[in-house]
Amino acid sequence: MEFFDLIKERYSVREYKDKEIPAELLEKVLDAGRIAPTARNCQPVRILVARSKEAVAKMNELTPCVYGAPVVLIICADTNESSSQPCGRSFAEADATIAATHIMLAAADAGLGTVWVGRFDQKEVKEALSFPDELVPFALMPIGYPSDTSVPNPRHNENKELSEIVKYF
Ligand SMILES: Cc1cc2nc3c(=O)[nH]c(=O)nc-3n(C[C@H](O)[C@H](O)[C@H](O)COP(=O)(O)O)c2cc1C
Repeated sequence: MEFFDLIKERYSVREYKDKEIPAELLEKVLDAGRIAPTARNCQPVRILVARSKEAVAKMNELTPCVYGAPVVLIICADTNESSSQPCGRSFAEADATIAATHIMLAAADAGLGTVWVGRFDQKEVKEALSFPDELVPFALMPIGYPSDTSVPNPRHNENKELSEIVKYF
């Protein structure tokens, strides 16, 4: 699909088919996260893939946003590896966010749906998955084939005008 069509077509999928994602396809989508840019090319992003029934059930206990996807990604950054130079502020979340965005778009290109889930408690996820202190989860991302009845939220196309968000000077 042409790139601009793809970014317009992508929407948050909140209903999934009970259908496995082929391992090679999932890997291809994850690879889009691997090659995302990171501050000072530190590459601190880590992605955990909950794909067994037990692992997905465990993730489903950590958020009210449960949509029936066969796989849930936990997109994290290792704060020991992320850069805070030269500005003195951490770029861990920015790095994880860009990787997550690459993944969402690569998934849409592959016919898969995703939704960014921010509604979770970072401490609870860290405890449930026995993360070391330095590993911080920034997004949960259910991923799978959209159900036949899945449609975008009615507000999906309600975007501000360019003139409201851009100022030339
Ligand atoms: C940082 C962030 C956090 C979000 N958290 C949630 C969430 O917890 N649950 C949910 O269902 N959707 C969540 N979303 C999805 C947004 O609601 C959705 O992207 C927005 O309404 C625009 O819809 P669209 O993705 O279909 O264009 C989140 C999106 C972003 C970018």
